[in-house]
Amino acid sequence: MSNITAAITAVGGYVPEYVLTNQILETMVDTNDEWITTRTGIKERRILKDANKGTSYLAIEAAKDVLKKSNTNPADIDMVIMATATPDMPVASTGVYVATQIGAINAFSFDLVAACSSFLYGMSTAARYIESGKYKKVLLIGADKMSSIIDYDDRTTCIIFGDGGGAVLFEPSTEGFGVQDEILRSDGIGRQSLKIDAGGSLLPPSIETVQNKQHYVFQDGKTVFKFAVSNMADVSEKIMTRNGLTGEDVSWLVPHQANRRIIDATAKRMNLPDEKVMMNIHKYGNTTSATLPLCLVDYEQQLKKGDNIVFASFGGGFTWGALYVTWAYDPS
Ligand code: UT7
Repeated sequence: MSNITAAITAVGGYVPEYVLTNQILETMVDTNDEWITTRTGIKERRILKDANKGTSYLAIEAAKDVLKKSNTNPADIDMVIMATATPDMPVASTGVYVATQIGAINAFSFDLVAACSSFLYGMSTAARYIESGKYKKVLLIGADKMSSIIDYDDRTTCIIFGDGGGAVLFEPSTEGFGVQDEILRSDGIGRQSLKIDAGGSLLPPSIETVQNKQHYVFQDGKTVFKFAVSNMADVSEKIMTRNGLTGEDVSWLVPHQANRRIIDATAKRMNLPDEKVMMNIHKYGNTTSATLPLCLVDYEQQLKKGDNIVFASFGGGFTWGALYVTWAYDPS
């Protein structure tokens, strides 16, 4: 066993300026603020309006924030993992472009695609590289321009998603801080419940696929909800049990922000009060790969060295899991 653990040593984020409120959505589709608020917890989300900017823009801004806050020379970064479900282009990795743009000239990079669990899986991946002892600075970015794949005539999806980016720096700890344990799962049973039908190798783009709106996200919300609510709670409870943690011992739950009701159910199973649950879904909606790091950005000043933190997510695929992390630094 290596005596190196993978600690998060800095966090950063970026959300675009434009605010798409529930009230604006009321003018676009047959919905209302009351329905959206009670069913999801969302009040508003951010949208990247500039049609010439893709997910890389959100990622670069988030990465620059973390580099600045941690006073890191980008040339010292060994690796950039780009967690996303909305790469700039199907071919030519977005992460490679982002790494070059931020000056990470000595890093190698790749995209990690696992729907809403991309960032969580990325945390696990980053940790393994750090624990190997070979890599000293791993930048994990989670960013999605969800507005590029959402049909704003479909009230079942357009009220949920938003755009944003977040990033964390992983570095070795010899004091035992950082990633302690993880449970990662996936199940292909979810393939039909949350998907984009066209644009891949199975159904390449055509006039028909565009006319049939098959390049947009389709979600069978009820089915996804059912799986999310039980699976996210299951892994969160299990990771606590096998590490001997009670609700008292856990300082924070950092949950994927898909639906407030899913988050509440997970917290309840973990025996955690609301004050220990990071929540910003009301401001940003579901930003897919960016939800976890954007939570860390919002709550960074409340985190203390040694805090026991459980990260949990559930997403399309299905993909899900939980990570147990001890926080490595005090607020500045
Ligand atoms: O991050 C990736 C993982 N994704 C998730 O975790 C999402 C999981 N699913 C959910 O969060 C919820 O299922 C939704 C928020 C998507 C939907 O909430 P729900 O409570 O499951 O609603 P529903 O789909 O069962 O729809 C209930 C009713 C339907 O009307 P009828 O058939 O009862 O007359 C819908 O047509 O609400 C209707 N409805 C709406 N009404 C107003 C659906 N969307 C809307 C809307 N405004 N935007």
